[in-house]
Amino acid sequence: MSTDKRQGWRARWQAAWQALGGVDTDVSRPPAAPPSVRGPLLDNLISVLPVPAILLDQAGTVLAFNLAAIDIAPVLQQGQSVLLALRVPALVDAIRQAQAARLSQRVEFEQRVPRERYFEAFVNPISLPGDQVDQRADYLLITFNDLTPLRRVEQMRADFVANASHELRTPLAALLGFIETLQGRAKDDAPAREKFLGIMRDQAARMARLIDDLLSLSRIELNAHVRPVAEVELTAVLRQVADSLQMLARDRGVAIHLSLDEPITIAGDRDELVRAFENLVENALKYGADGKRVDIVARRGAAQNGDPEAQVIVRDYGPGIPPQHLPRLTERFYRVNATTSRAQGGTGLGLALVKHILNRHGGRMTIDSIEGNGATFTAHLPILATNTKNQAESAR
Ligand SMILES: Nc1ncnc2c1ncn2[C@@H]1O[C@H](COP(=O)(O)OP(=O)(O)O)[C@@H](O)[C@H]1O
Ligand SMILES: [Mg+2]
Repeated sequence: MSTDKRQGWRARWQAAWQALGGVDTDVSRPPAAPPSVRGPLLDNLISVLPVPAILLDQAGTVLAFNLAAIDIAPVLQQGQSVLLALRVPALVDAIRQAQAARLSQRVEFEQRVPRERYFEAFVNPISLPGDQVDQRADYLLITFNDLTPLRRVEQMRADFVANASHELRTPLAALLGFIETLQGRAKDDAPAREKFLGIMRDQAARMARLIDDLLSLSRIELNAHVRPVAEVELTAVLRQVADSLQMLARDRGVAIHLSLDEPITIAGDRDELVRAFENLVENALKYGADGKRVDIVARRGAAQNGDPEAQVIVRDYGPGIPPQHLPRLTERFYRVNATTSRAQGGTGLGLALVKHILNRHGGRMTIDSIEGNGATFTAHLPILATNTKNQAESAR
């Protein structure tokens, strides 16, 4: 660093310190900066804070605030009482307390307009040496933290546990009921015993499926930020999926049509991809059976940013999905019709799994549906860069 530069930095720092009322340690410098510097300096300090911040004088008049604060209190104005802009009772109390006791306060509050948000606010008294000897200047600094994302995660976790428990309790209650019946009334009734054991097997299988899906979800989430690296050829995966679901298709009277491009290799986890496509094709076979036909297409396309991507399309010709459900379809346990889903052996976790698997592969899913005219689920997966190059070379 050049001497010039170092001196420049030192001078700026000293000016800042003096403006805040600091003691000037450099005897070679002129005496304290005029008080007018303090305003712009505080303004600058507040404006660079990464959180919403408002600076008040001891009387509660607004001295400075940053852009982020306007988002919380749109009518903030310099020189006006902060109480005109912040009408949250808990916060007003905290400001009064901080003014009276000169102690830091923390409050949480909720804002409903323009949208529902949760904040915590810290009201901190600051006391600086004043412009004259033996004088102090008292301020209040209010900073805010947006707690909304945290609250949302907490809510999602609570909902998830409640949903999972409910889903497990229903088959468990059925099992307990039938066990009691078999121990009592139906003890010596051979045909009833056969029937009940059949129902019990189905209910136990449902619990097993649910636990299996829950474990898969948590495993995939655990690895969410680890991109799979093995080379997987997609058309082979899709042939395998179609083969494994042939029985179900025959049972539902649906014909599976495969339309696969030349081989498409991506970086992936083969088992996870099989699972994802199985889920999509199974849904199409179960919920779209009325259409009698399911198409599976694999092709090369381009992502929104122009990068090459693989697109796997699973389309059915069934009743489709009403548009208001589309945005929520990949949420855990979200179903258009829970009774239909349960009757089909569904857990409500299939599309959540698909979404997480695709995310982990750097891909995504799009869903299109016209009510009465089937549903189309498209998996978009990035293609290995080296792979496109290799294939271009081998095509030459
Ligand atoms: N191809 C489809 N046609 C109509 N509805 C569908 C289709 N695929 C999924 N859905 C709807 O989305 C819901 C969620 O699907 P999913 O997450 O796989 O759970 P599950 O199949 O276990 O119920 C289903 O319950 C169903 O209501
Ligand atoms: Mg499903």
